[in-house]
Amino acid sequence: MKNNDHTAKRKPWVNWMIFLVTVVIVFIIGLFASSIIERRSESQLYFQMVSEIPEWEPRNEVWGQNFPREYESYLQTSDTSFKSKHFGSKHIDYLAKYPEMVVMWAGYSFSSDYNQGRGHYWAVEDNRKTLRTTSRFMQPSTCWTCKSTDVPRVMNEIGVAEFYKTPWIDMGAQIVNHIGCQDCHDPKTMNLRITRPGLVEAFERQGRNVNDATHQEMRSLVCAQCHVEYYFKGEGKYLTFPWDKGFSADEMEKYYDEYEFADWTHALSRTPMLKAQHPDYELHMTGVHADRGVACADCHMPYQRDGGIKFTSHFMVSPLQNISGSCQVCHRESEEKLRENVYERQDKVAELRHITEANLARTHIEAKIAWDAGASEEEMSPVLKLIRHAQWRWDWVAAANAMGFHSPVEALRVLGTSIQKSQEARVLLAEILTRHNVEIPIDMPDISTKEKAQEFINLPMEELRNYKRKFYEDIVPQWIKESKERESKMHAKLK
Ligand code: HEC
Ligand code: HEC
Ligand code: HEC
Ligand code: HEC
Repeated sequence: MKNNDHTAKRKPWVNWMIFLVTVVIVFIIGLFASSIIERRSESQLYFQMVSEIPEWEPRNEVWGQNFPREYESYLQTSDTSFKSKHFGSKHIDYLAKYPEMVVMWAGYSFSSDYNQGRGHYWAVEDNRKTLRTTSRFMQPSTCWTCKSTDVPRVMNEIGVAEFYKTPWIDMGAQIVNHIGCQDCHDPKTMNLRITRPGLVEAFERQGRNVNDATHQEMRSLVCAQCHVEYYFKGEGKYLTFPWDKGFSADEMEKYYDEYEFADWTHALSRTPMLKAQHPDYELHMTGVHADRGVACADCHMPYQRDGGIKFTSHFMVSPLQNISGSCQVCHRESEEKLRENVYERQDKVAELRHITEANLARTHIEAKIAWDAGASEEEMSPVLKLIRHAQWRWDWVAAANAMGFHSPVEALRVLGTSIQKSQEARVLLAEILTRHNVEIPIDMPDISTKEKAQEFINLPMEELRNYKRKFYEDIVPQWIKESKERESKMHAKLK
C-alpha cells in the first residue's frame, strides 16, 4: 500500500518521462538486434565473388575461385583410400565377389563389368572406362546424364530429347568435367537448385512442383537428381523416373508391368528383365531417418570448421569415414557403437541378399534347361513373371548403396519377397522339368568365379577389352583435345 501511495503522489509528467525513455531504449535495442541478424544472414548469403560465374559454367575450378573451402573439400572426392566393411571408395570388382551376378545379367551389359562406385571426381573417367560402354552395347547419351556438369550446358544448347538420343560415343568430346557445383547450385545466388529434367518431370507428373520443396527437402533432392531409379523410355531413350504410382519397389514394379517395359531379354531364361539403377533416395525415404526429416546432406555433408568459419563439407563419401562429424551431431553413442550398428544391419541384409543371388542364378539356368527340353510359352509364362519380379526386388536393394542401411526393415522385406518369388518359380520349374522328362535336381555348371561364369554365358571378354584399349589410344585423346579448345574460348578465364 505504501508503494502505491508513493506512485500516486508522483507528478504526472514524471510518469510520462519514464514511459518515453523506455520507448527510446527499446527502440535502440531493437535497432542493434536487427543489425546483428542482418549481418549474420549477410555472412551466410552474401558471397565475395572473386569472379562472376556465368550460367552453365561447367568448370569446378572457376566456381572454386569464389568458394575455396567448399571446392577443396569437394576435390577430396578423388580420394579412394577409405574402405569400410561393405563400402568405401576403394575398387571392388562386384562380379568377382559375386559371380552369380554374371549369370543373373546374361545378355546384358552389366555381366561384363560392374564395380563398387567411388567419389564424384571419378564419374566421367569411370563411365569412359567401363566395358558397359563398349560399342557392343550401343549406349545412348542418357548414360552421361548423371556424370558431369557439362550435361546441363549441352542440354541447354541442343535440347533435352536431342541430348538423350545422341549415341554415347558422339557426345564424348562434350562431357569432360565431373559432377560438380553447377549440378546443385545457382551461380547467381548459390541457392540449391535442380538441374536434371528427370526429377522435375517426375514431380510434374505427380502434380507437384519441385521448386516448392523446403530447404531441408532440397538437401536430399539435389542428390535425388542422380541417386534414384530411372529408365530409358522409348526409342528416344528419354531418361524417366518410374515414380507415377509411388516409389516403393512394389509400386515401381507395377508401373513397369503396365508399361510392359523391359531393359533386356535374359539370354538364358528369356525373361523380359528389369535392371534397377540405384534407388538410394527411394529406399532412404522409407526409413526412420527420412521419417524424422534427416536429409542426405546431414550424414554425407557434415559441417566443418575452418578457423571461425563454419561451412558445409563437400567431401561426399561414406559417413563412416567421419562418424563424429556425421552421426554424433545427433547420436550420443560412441563411434564404435555407431559403426557396429551400421555393420549389424548391413550384415543381415547381405545374408538375405546372397541367398537371393544363389537362388536367382539357379532359376535362370533351370529355365534355360526347361526351354531346351521343349517347354511351351504357356508353361513358362508364369515362371518368367516370377523371375522378373524376384530379380527386380533383389536389385532394388542390391543396387542401392549402403547395403540397406538407409532403411534396413524395408530392405529386408523386399529381399524376403524376392526369395519367396524365386522359390515359387523353382517349384513351377520342377513340375515343368518333370513333365518334360528332365531329371531333377539338374547339374549346375561351374560358375564359381567371374571368369568361369562369363565363359558359361559366352561373353567375348577379350574382344571387349581390346575395344577399350583401342578406344583409349585413339578416341579419348581426341575428346580431350577438342574439349580443351572449347573451354579455352569460354568467357570466365582461369587465372
Ligand atoms: C542417417 C545417415 C544417412 C543418411 C540420411 C543417408 N545416408 Fe547414405 N550412407 C550412410 C551410411 C552409414 C552408409 C554406409 C557407409 C559404409 O558402409 O561405409 C551410406 C552409404 C551411402 C552411399 C555409398 C557410399 C560408399 O562408400 O560407396 C551412397 C552413395 C549414399 N549413402 C547416398 C545417400 C543418399 C543419396 C542419401 C539421401 C537420399 C543418403 N545416402 C542418406 C548414412 C546415411
Ligand atoms: C549429377 C549426378 C549426381 C548428383 C547430383 C549426386 N551424385 Fe553422388 N554419385 C554420382 C555418381 C555417378 C557416383 C559414382 C561415381 C563413380 O563411381 O565414378 C556417385 C557417388 C557417390 C558416393 C560414393 C562415394 C564413394 O567414395 O564411394 C556418395 C557417398 C555420393 N555419391 C553421395 C551423394 C550425395 C550425398 C549427393 C547429394 C548431396 C550426391 N551424391 C549427388 C552421381 C551424383
Ligand atoms: C551434389 C550437390 C552439390 C554439389 C555438387 C556442390 N554442392 Fe555446394 N552445397 C550443397 C548442399 C546440400 C549445401 C548445403 C546447403 C544448405 O543447407 O543451405 C551446399 C552448400 C554450399 C555453399 C554454402 C556455404 C556452405 O558451406 O554451407 C557454398 C558456397 C557451396 N555449397 C559451394 C559449392 C561449390 C564451390 C561446389 C563445387 C566445387 C559445390 N558447392 C558443389 C550441395 C552441393
Ligand atoms: C540429423 C540427425 C541424425 C543424424 C545426422 C543421424 N541420425 Fe541416426 N537417427 C536420428 C533419429 C531422429 C533417429 C530415430 C530414432 C529416434 O527418433 O529416436 C535415428 C535412428 C537411428 C538408428 C536406429 C534406426 C534404424 O535404422 O535401425 C540408427 C542405427 C542410427 N540412427 C544410426 C545413425 C548413424 C550410424 C548415423 C551416421 C551415419 C546417424 N544415425 C546419423 C537422427 C540422426
